[in-house]
Amino acid sequence: MSSTSSQIGSGSYSTVTVKGSVAYKTFTRDFVGGKREFEALKVIYTRCSPGAVFFVLKPIAFCEQDNDIEAAFENEVIRPAVGTYLEDTKSPTIPMERISDIPDALKAELGELLGVKPDEAAKIRICLLGIGRNDAESASKSTVNLTNVLLTADMYTKLAVQSKTIHLPPIEQIASGIGEMVSRIHWKAGYDANDIKFVMGGNGNGGIKLYVIDFNLVRTIIFFYLEGIH
Ligand SMILES: Nc1ncnc2c1ncn2[C@@H]1O[C@H](COP(=O)(O)OP(=O)(O)OP(=O)(O)O)[C@@H](O)[C@H]1O
Ligand SMILES: [Mg+2]
Repeated sequence: MSSTSSQIGSGSYSTVTVKGSVAYKTFTRDFVGGKREFEALKVIYTRCSPGAVFFVLKPIAFCEQDNDIEAAFENEVIRPAVGTYLEDTKSPTIPMERISDIPDALKAELGELLGVKPDEAAKIRICLLGIGRNDAESASKSTVNLTNVLLTADMYTKLAVQSKTIHLPPIEQIASGIGEMVSRIHWKAGYDANDIKFVMGGNGNGGIKLYVIDFNLVRTIIFFYLEGIH
């Protein structure tokens, strides 16, 4: 089955395009962090995701500029559609699992909360959970764009209370899930959580699912302070 690709996001170092069930994070040609993010993602996915409140997206492969494709996990076959996409891309790229859009009913409810028209609300894809912020005024200005809506703690709580269609976990569960994931990334994977993002997307089945994304700036932790402690 063929599907069209659409650019869902762009950051300082990359653009993210989705096609079918795969998201492709493509780095600016000279950015070496692509390979580093790939290595971190493999470790964090394997060690931190099972059983956590926030899921880590499974990486599929890393493709260097010269089109050398390295599979993320041994013995996993890379689908032809992914191979074809990577061959056409001239920059380092990580194909990974895609975050589904939040359900349509939730888009409509969130659109009402944001005061946007229904056709604009339909463009919402995912929500960035900025629950450390609580300034709705600055949040509405800093809504990254309509495809990536930034939810402060207040906005999330309002949405959770008002939503008649989707059950959203209480904010306390979101906060403890974030703490759990930062701790797992630290202790199980050996990375800090520099610049990672917590996101609410769809589960592809009418509900929502929570994800942690963006590992291009995480740094390895040297557990030097454990030495000498008896
Ligand atoms: N697997 C994915 N599925 C769907 N959308 C994604 C996926 N990964 C990233 N995105 C979207 O692309 C945006 C940019 O991704 P990401 O934060 O990883 O890029 P970045 O270049 O590292 O950004 P930044 O400059 O903020 O560090 C995200 O906010 C999100 O909307
Ligand atoms: Mg980043």
